[in-house]
Amino acid sequence: MSFPINRPRRLRRSDAIRRLVRETRLHPSDFIYPVFVSELIDRPEPIEAMPGIFRYPYKDAAKEADRVFKLGIPGVLLFGIPTHKDATGSESLKQDGIVQNTIREIKNVNPEIVVIADVCLCEYTDHGHCGIINNGEVDNDATVYILARQAASLAAAGADIVAPSDMMDGRVKAIRADLDKNGFKNTAIMSYSAKYCSAFYGPFREAAGSAPQFGNRKGYQMDPANATEAIKEISYDIDEGADIVMVKPALAYLDIIAKAKSRFDIPIAAYNVSGEYSMVKLAAQAELGDEKLLALEILTSIKRAGADIIISYHAADVAKWLE
Ligand code: PBG
Repeated sequence: MSFPINRPRRLRRSDAIRRLVRETRLHPSDFIYPVFVSELIDRPEPIEAMPGIFRYPYKDAAKEADRVFKLGIPGVLLFGIPTHKDATGSESLKQDGIVQNTIREIKNVNPEIVVIADVCLCEYTDHGHCGIINNGEVDNDATVYILARQAASLAAAGADIVAPSDMMDGRVKAIRADLDKNGFKNTAIMSYSAKYCSAFYGPFREAAGSAPQFGNRKGYQMDPANATEAIKEISYDIDEGADIVMVKPALAYLDIIAKAKSRFDIPIAAYNVSGEYSMVKLAAQAELGDEKLLALEILTSIKRAGADIIISYHAADVAKWLE
């Protein structure tokens, strides 16, 4: 049967009817808020490429985490900016490293906050790559060894979840083994499983000072043209012990999120990355659109595609907009 019997507009006639048949609803509990912590500063410092986002000294980072938790956001994802970088990112392993200090401080302020720590070397290496360089190439297995040590160090500081973002092969397995060996069997792994080599990370690299000093990340991050490979990456990570898998970026990869959701019965996270955030901010500043409407439309599409968890710099704003 079709028109005039069928009239879809009947269900769009009022706000209340539209609410009744709405299929996707954002909630603060869907979100994780990324927080940058820096050892180089003693007061919060605005990140130019990301209007509204700051780098924090670790004590202020804990206050910020508590502020967003009170808005209904369950947790934060921490990125550290250390004073000292070297070829192997050794600073990332220290118990008094910037992220380790932040984790302990957040747990002091409010132990309920879900603390997720990024596991990667690019913020800690002087060359800016996500791993150890041998003969001009990122050495997979040498890197995996260090990443597993880093994850155990973050777990020892109190992280609830570790989140490897390096895209080395076999790192989830190595991290799970190292965590278990050191008594952290309850620390979960959220793996950046399908992380693409994307131009949308530009503002983050300014924020974290993590741009590669030579070459690019195409030898480890995924080719944006590939979808089948994303399914392969995600299934490997689930086999290796990932508790949550992630697709990143989100907006240009909604098809990947949808595929992952239909194929795998584990929580799917999507990272609404820095470039996606800053595009909306700058468009709104140029009066090309309304920030709230643009952001909510994008984030709703990410959830509609199938994301169970959305990592977003807009998370705190969303929680306020939804009040
Ligand atoms: C570290 C890392 C990056 C992001 C998260 N973890 C940068 C990169 O891979 O270059 C990007 C996040 C964002 O753009 O918001 N490997």
